[in-house]
Amino acid sequence: MNSMSTRLKQLRIDFPFLVAPMVGLSHVAFRELIRVYTPPSIDALIFTEMLSSRRLPSERLERAENLFVAENESYLVPQLLGNEERFIAPSIEKLLELRPWGIDINMGCPKNKTLSHNWGVLLLGDKNYAAEVVRVTKKNSPVPVSVKLRAGMGDKIDLNYLDEFTAALEEAGVDWMTIHCRPRKQKHHGKADWETVQELSKKRKVPVVANGDIQTANDAIDLVQKFRVDGAMIARAATARPWILWQIAYALGCQDPARGRALPRPPLSPEEEGEEYFCAVKRFGFLLERYFGPSENSLQRLKFYIGVSSPWLMFGHDFWKKIHACREFSEAIDRIHAYAEANPQILQARVSH
Ligand SMILES: Cc1cc2nc3c(=O)[nH]c(=O)nc-3n(C[C@H](O)[C@H](O)[C@H](O)COP(=O)(O)O)c2cc1C
Repeated sequence: MNSMSTRLKQLRIDFPFLVAPMVGLSHVAFRELIRVYTPPSIDALIFTEMLSSRRLPSERLERAENLFVAENESYLVPQLLGNEERFIAPSIEKLLELRPWGIDINMGCPKNKTLSHNWGVLLLGDKNYAAEVVRVTKKNSPVPVSVKLRAGMGDKIDLNYLDEFTAALEEAGVDWMTIHCRPRKQKHHGKADWETVQELSKKRKVPVVANGDIQTANDAIDLVQKFRVDGAMIARAATARPWILWQIAYALGCQDPARGRALPRPPLSPEEEGEEYFCAVKRFGFLLERYFGPSENSLQRLKFYIGVSSPWLMFGHDFWKKIHACREFSEAIDRIHAYAEANPQILQARVSH
């Protein structure tokens, strides 16, 4: 494979493309779906959804569904919501049982519940406080510690502030960071400002990874090759094209087939991707059932996945409506099979959120 070495190599990460934390999506079944489509020679970091440091210490691993991991799962990065050592320390202890590659601290979540604990995006408002959270996490973690943050607290990006803020994280010992290059008020809509991450990565010694609006393998490769950031973190597009890491690896010269697909190369054309999308959704249904049973919970997870991924399908709304109307998990699976047979689809390269 063409060399794609960035500063993440300092942390022994050779493949600088990652899959983001997403509540309701980044569970064991989704992570396994991504791994099914990833060549075995590729070690990609995949995040869990954000996990509350107040709940983690009392959680039982065999019961808490958001802590389920696959038997051979590695390169896992659990994401922590927290700000106090008395919760962070026992949370890390619990997370170490999952054999994580690293621990990430959330400094971007704008949800009210998160804000009421003074964590998530609120940490972004006070660099000393945020740096202290990094220090405490580092002190308690034997694995690399990263931060995922937003590019601004309000509706604008302030590069000077971000420079000071990320310098404080660096000073506190953070090993690497991800910038979601949209400010808080922009939520997940519209274009992301990749130039800002480019500027910041020049200023930092630690690796800086870009996130936001990466929809295709080319977007991800451009970020690393042209914008020269240290990594590209893919979020929603990884639901529509769970084979995106395979496409990236293939474009960079990796000839290995994916772990769990018979195809010699990733789907490339819109038609191939449209066909593979339904194979992926069926496989996802199978994995949901394996990990969570044919339950109401699996049905909700399936609906949510299709809700997030179907905008990339040319007529995805119709598919989503049909699945959304299902009352039973088995009914949804039957409809997916019937729909896939009757409706050849194409996947669009990019959509506007
Ligand atoms: C359904 C959903 C759940 C998310 N949950 C998290 C989360 O748990 N932690 C986090 O840091 N970001 C979370 N995010 C933000 C994503 O990680 C990412 O920053 C955002 O979607 C922008 O990337 P994209 O434009 O490629 O989707 C979530 C986003 C979505 C759509």
